[in-house]
Parts: sequence; structure tokens; C-alpha cells
Amino acid sequence: MQKFVIKGGIPIEGEIQLRGAKNSALPIMAASLLCSGETILENCPRLTDIFVACRILTHLGCSCTLNQHTVSIIANNLINNEIPEDLMQEMRSSIIFLGAVLGRTGACQVSYPGGCELGPRPIDLHLDALRRMGAEIIQSEGRLLCSAPKGIHGATVHLKFPSVGATENILLAAVLAKGRTVIYNAAREPEICDLASFLRSCGAKIAGEGESTIVIDGVKSLKGCNYRIMPDRIAGITYLSAAAITGGKIKLNGTNGAQIENVISLLEQAGCRIYHMDNALYIYAPKRLLSISGIKTMPHPGFPTDAQAIFMALMTCAKGVSVFEENIFENRYRHVDALLKMGANIYVSGRIAVVEGVQQLSGANINATDLRGGAAMVLAGLAACGHTEIKQISHIDRGYESIETVLSDVGADIVRKEEYN
Ligand code: EPZ
Repeated sequence: MQKFVIKGGIPIEGEIQLRGAKNSALPIMAASLLCSGETILENCPRLTDIFVACRILTHLGCSCTLNQHTVSIIANNLINNEIPEDLMQEMRSSIIFLGAVLGRTGACQVSYPGGCELGPRPIDLHLDALRRMGAEIIQSEGRLLCSAPKGIHGATVHLKFPSVGATENILLAAVLAKGRTVIYNAAREPEICDLASFLRSCGAKIAGEGESTIVIDGVKSLKGCNYRIMPDRIAGITYLSAAAITGGKIKLNGTNGAQIENVISLLEQAGCRIYHMDNALYIYAPKRLLSISGIKTMPHPGFPTDAQAIFMALMTCAKGVSVFEENIFENRYRHVDALLKMGANIYVSGRIAVVEGVQQLSGANINATDLRGGAAMVLAGLAACGHTEIKQISHIDRGYESIETVLSDVGADIVRKEEYN
């Protein structure tokens, strides 16, 4: 077990290069199952979830090799269409393989992914859509037995909620299906656009990604290609926020500012100056941030739920009162206890959290509760006076490649240590 030890109070300054997005790489790795020949994915982050996706692909019979930040996948000879429970439990997004395996083989067995640290994570929208596309799905002893006796076919799907995972699963099942699939109320997140753009490079016919209606015309086959995974917008927001909370300034290379426009405008409201030039964002933070009156998480292009904990860390020491409304996940305030322990002033009632900024946080011994909550704790630690020790950092490692190296390269005092009980 490892922990981070942070000595706070140092403004960060320098350049950070963004890596590829985990939430884009995972569905694209699943999509590579649908292709003949070799798929080469560049700019893949080296993260535990990516290693799990590689193990799932290998289990299914693919060759999957990760060399630095490049993954090579050859899916010519599948030997399996079931994913064992232990692999399914290692990451929630393993469910994304369901659409791809079904699309490729017409049958698939997976386990129910269950709940997670963010609360219940149902997959009813995924299953309803796949049923409409010809899948018969039986649930037995925690396993989902899926088959499409007459093959997967196109269908019209109206999603009750623009679920990212459900939209991805439908896309994956639809690209090789017979006929046309139309998804209404589709998720519009940039990761959906990256998946669609990858699939199109392999020969798929998709239109409308990034909008609420996506139309997919099934094709006979797809061919692997070379593809560069888009930069990680949530990691980008995290590093901009690290500069914001420490009163620092950084140049963030490899960002797409358009994907995080709403977040940039909130950072500006908080007093930061931000410029976009040549694929890089420059942020200059004030000594103390100003509060932001209302932050409501919404599906894209609204404020991303994945940035809620990060912004809460910022607001704990901003001047004034901020109000958060979490509308995507039921249980996404688990970072609050750790922030309270560091001297923050936060009141939570259901979906609402009210944060009254304090002059200064102070270091504490805390535990990461989930990926983005853990990142929020790192940010709070960078701003706090004294030392902060964060345990259970495997949560943070799921989404940030060597966050301590990235931050210490721009002047933060953060080290990873072995934790001995
Ligand atoms: C993706 O999760 C991301 N994960 C999450 O990022 C992100 O927070 C989330 O989208 C929202 O943006 C990956 O891309 C791997 P959803 P996903 O289906 O697809 C409900 C991170 O920190 N819902 O859009 O699971 C669901 O319960 C992670 O990197 C149903 O009710 O999210 C939730 O309340 C965490 N039925 C809401 O929709 C369903 O069948 C949004 O879920 C599916 C979802």
C-alpha cells in the first residue's frame, strides 16, 4: 500500500503535458475487438484500468501489448466471448465490452458490474437498448447471459438519460449490425466523439456524435487503424485547478480548450486569467480565489460531474460562499469528510453542498475515497499549511498517471511513500 505525503503552500509553476484520456481509451480498446488486422492506439495513459482492459482483451483471445504509451491490439482470432467475474469486478467500465463482444460474436457472458463508490450504477439503459437490437439477455446468479440468435440488428433507441456508457455500448453493438441504428438523447461527451471518430477511421458509418441524435449504419467489416487517443480533459481540469488553488501559473500542453469551455469560464469567474494558444492553455491564478455562486453538474456540455470534487477543493479556500448541486451520481460527496478534516467549512444536504471558503486549510491524515475525490484531496493538500498524508491512493492511480511526478515537476512538494502498518 502506498500513500502521498504533501507539504502544502507552494505555488506551482511550469509546463505540464497532458496524456490521453482513460475514459476515451477504454471504449476504444473495446472497439478494437470489432476490427480485423492490427489496431495501434497512441497516447494511451499507463493506468490500472488500461491494464485491466488489456487483460480482458487477452482473455478473449486478442493479442494486446502495451509499449510505453502505445497499445497494439490484434483481434483476428477470438477464443472466448465470456468475461470472468474477477475481471469484470476490477473496473466498472468492463461493461463496455458487452456491446463490442455481442457485435462481434452475437453472444456474450459478463457479470453484473454492481454498485461502486459513487453509489448504485445500474445498466438498465444498456440492456434495454441491446434488447431492442435483437439481444436476448438472461440474468442468472449475477451473470448476464446474452445472445442474439438472429444477429444484432439496427434499432431506434430513446435513452431516458444521456448515459455515456449506454451510448458507447450501443455504438459498439451497432457498427457491425444489420441496418440503421438511431440513438435519441445520446450522451454528447467528447469521449463519445473520440470513439465515433476511431470507429469511422476503421470504416464505420456514424453521423451526429456530439449531438443528441446519433445515426449508425451497420457495415460488413471494420479494419484496424492507427489512432491517437484524445487528451484527458478531466486530468487537464485537475492540473489547471492545481495552479488555481496554489496561486500558481502553468502552461498545459496538448489541451483542447473547447472541450472544457464551461470549466474555463468558471475558473475565470474565480479570478484566474486563462489564455489559449497553439494547443496549450495558460493559467495565471490570483493569490486567493473568489467563490462561484452555483455549480450544477450536468451531462455534457454542462459542468462535468468528474470535476465537482476538484472544484469543491478550490472553493474550500475561496473568498465567499459557493453552492454545488450534484445531479449525475447519488453519492458523489464522499470527499467532503476529508476536506472537513482539513478545516473546510462544508454543509451537505442531499444533492446540495454549501461551501464557505476559509482563509487557510491545514494538513491532515486522510483517505482517498474515489478517483476524483482523491484528486481533490491532493489539491487541498497542495494549498494547505503543513503536511497532508493521503492513504488509499490506488483510487487516484486509476485515473492519473504518476500524479506526484507531474506535480513535483512543476514545483509541488509531493512524494509517494510505502505505507507500513
Ligand atoms: C462515465 O461513466 C465515466 N466513466 C464517469 O467517469 C463519468 O463520471 C460519467 O460517465 C458521467 O460523465 C467512464 O467513461 C469509464 P453514465 P458511466 O452511464 O458511463 C445513470 C471517472 O471519474 N444510469 O453516464 O458509468 C447512472 O446511475 C468516472 O473517470 C442509469 O440509471 O456514466 C448515473 O447516475 C467515474 N442506467 C448516470 O446515469 C444506466 O443504464 C450517469 O451514468 C446507465 C446509467
